[in-house]
Amino acid sequence: NLKTVRTVAALREAVRGWRAAGESVGLVPTMGWLHDGHMSLVRNSMVQNDRTVVSIFVNPKQFDRATDLEAYPRDEARDAALLDAAGADVLWAPEAGEMYPDGFSTSVNVSGLTDCLCGASRPGHFGGVAVVVTKLLLQCLADRAYFGRKDYQQLMVVRRMARDLNIPTEIRGIDTVRETDGLAMSSRNWYLTESERAAAPTLFRVLTDIAEAAGQGEDVRRAIDRGKRHLDRAGFGQLDYLEVRDAETLELTTRPTQPARAFAAVFLGKARLIDNVPVDPA
Ligand code: PAJ
Repeated sequence: NLKTVRTVAALREAVRGWRAAGESVGLVPTMGWLHDGHMSLVRNSMVQNDRTVVSIFVNPKQFDRATDLEAYPRDEARDAALLDAAGADVLWAPEAGEMYPDGFSTSVNVSGLTDCLCGASRPGHFGGVAVVVTKLLLQCLADRAYFGRKDYQQLMVVRRMARDLNIPTEIRGIDTVRETDGLAMSSRNWYLTESERAAAPTLFRVLTDIAEAAGQGEDVRRAIDRGKRHLDRAGFGQLDYLEVRDAETLELTTRPTQPARAFAAVFLGKARLIDNVPVDPA
């Protein structure tokens, strides 16, 4: 029996009741238009906690283009039905005015980790993510909160921020859920035309190839050049980055000796696709 709440006060009241009964609480932050990647986070939370809160809030502060914010797909009724069927307890769906009341003037900046990858190609994006995730974590005060490795840099930023600010919620990372052809599930896949959708799995293949080369000690620069040609031939557009970085520090590496990841962000038609895969040095 999913309950939808729209105010911080109502959310706190629900959580307070569970706490009084000694129940543990998991939080799954999302922007809605739920797919099986999101539902995997929900299922993990439900197994590991007595109660699960799922938030849906399309956060204006993390969009760098107004057109992207407007075009972002929304269907709360459909999302609520999915969450209800999965057995989640509360849908936390505040209006923008509840999240950012008039005069809102606080920012949260996680330096260093946000200089590269999406932080470099989308200025201001992680500031918007950091402030909304801080608010969601403090509104809910869950025992655990769940984030996908699909947005690996976001996961690292949230972990660092929660640690630095002593937010008493454990941040858990969950593996990327993919379509059968390898494409990482994403609300943004919805923007793809039929022919773009057919080309999209090339991104995962390119990343897998780079990760294998890097894992085998081959110079990653050659694998990256090969990958760029593949993306080009498959009809991909602007490439924001295609890089191998340390899995902890996110620093660039050419011959990784520690766990690393291959990261990409590239346009395919109107959609900006991001993905990453692990590199395991032999
Ligand atoms: P959104 O893109 O809706 O994603 C919500 C959560 O689902 C994120 O933690 C994301 O990493 C995870 N996720 C998305 N696709 C996934 C997939 N294919 N497999 C596994 N997990 C996946 O990320 C955001 O929203 C926002 O930035 C948010 C954290 C909610 C702050 O506004």
